[in-house]
Amino acid sequence: MITLRHRGPRSTWVFVIVSVPRGDFHAAADDVKSERMTDSEGGPDLTKDGPEDPIEPAAAGDRPLVVVENVNKHFGELHVLKDINLTVDPGEVVVVIGPSGGGKSTLCRAINRLEPIDNGKILLDGKELPKEGKELAKLRADVGMVFQSFNLFAHKTILDNVTLGPIKVRKQGRQESEKHAMELLDRVGIANQAHKYPAQLSGGQQQRAAIARSLAMRPKVMLFDEPTSALDPEMVNEVLDVMTGLAREGMTMIVVTHEMGFARRAARKVVFMADGQIVEENTPDEFFTNARTERAKDFLSKILTH
Ligand SMILES: Nc1ncnc2c1ncn2[C@@H]1O[C@H](COP(=O)(O)OP(=O)(O)OP(=O)(O)O)[C@@H](O)[C@H]1O
Ligand SMILES: [Mg+2]
Repeated sequence: MITLRHRGPRSTWVFVIVSVPRGDFHAAADDVKSERMTDSEGGPDLTKDGPEDPIEPAAAGDRPLVVVENVNKHFGELHVLKDINLTVDPGEVVVVIGPSGGGKSTLCRAINRLEPIDNGKILLDGKELPKEGKELAKLRADVGMVFQSFNLFAHKTILDNVTLGPIKVRKQGRQESEKHAMELLDRVGIANQAHKYPAQLSGGQQQRAAIARSLAMRPKVMLFDEPTSALDPEMVNEVLDVMTGLAREGMTMIVVTHEMGFARRAARKVVFMADGQIVEENTPDEFFTNARTERAKDFLSKILTH
């Protein structure tokens, strides 16, 4: 740690430069964040709970909500998903982590049927996803997806972005959709931005709007594919706060992220993917301190030292 002092005309500035590996940086940022969560300024109010909760997590009983069974997928010669098996229980948060090109995004897209699979099965709440048609649109609406880029409609207000799906796909009335949208925007801390356009919001606010938009469809499961990796560092935590809140409320989530603080805080299970395979499934604590496989240890040593 280096401390520099600058004595200005009216005040003394103290700069503290802390050198920490990337992983520790996020863990450290998480500590700062956990203090900020009690701060009433700005960010989402995650201390709220109770009867007004607009988020209705899946009530699927005891059966798994997502089952991926012996799934294979090629892009031409490239075998990108190699016999993938994964089960996600209702209310479970699974963090998927691994090197670039390992197949994490393809797996998310396959679960949402944005990407066809060669063989194997993907079940959502006990039902196999149909290949196409209306039934697919309906089932796909049960899976909320949040990408790295926020994909909001630029020419629509934030409120219109959030109400579009419920009105068009769920055939919900405008009034009811707007009421629910405002509850969700309040929940993610941007109700005061409802009438602005995406370009008028910061990256963190846009990503929170994208999360509200997904939640508006009342999905049974939420998939997040590196939702914070396009954000400036100071905006990462406001998005992770929202995701941590969702996890606490019992939302079933599959999250591709390298944010270890989030994984430790919110995940029940870490899935390490490399070269198209699930190489290791572990608890977050075990995975980050004592990974079982050499491949995972090697990956962790790289992200911890950069
Ligand atoms: N549409 C596509 N056509 C051809 N190859 C693709 C396509 N999409 C992905 N791939 C390839 O499939 C492999 C897996 O990609 P994928 O995006 O799933 O990896 P990832 O684990 O999400 O990587 P990253 O951490 O960089 O996001 C990569 O080799 C990639 O180049
Ligand atoms: Mg990816």
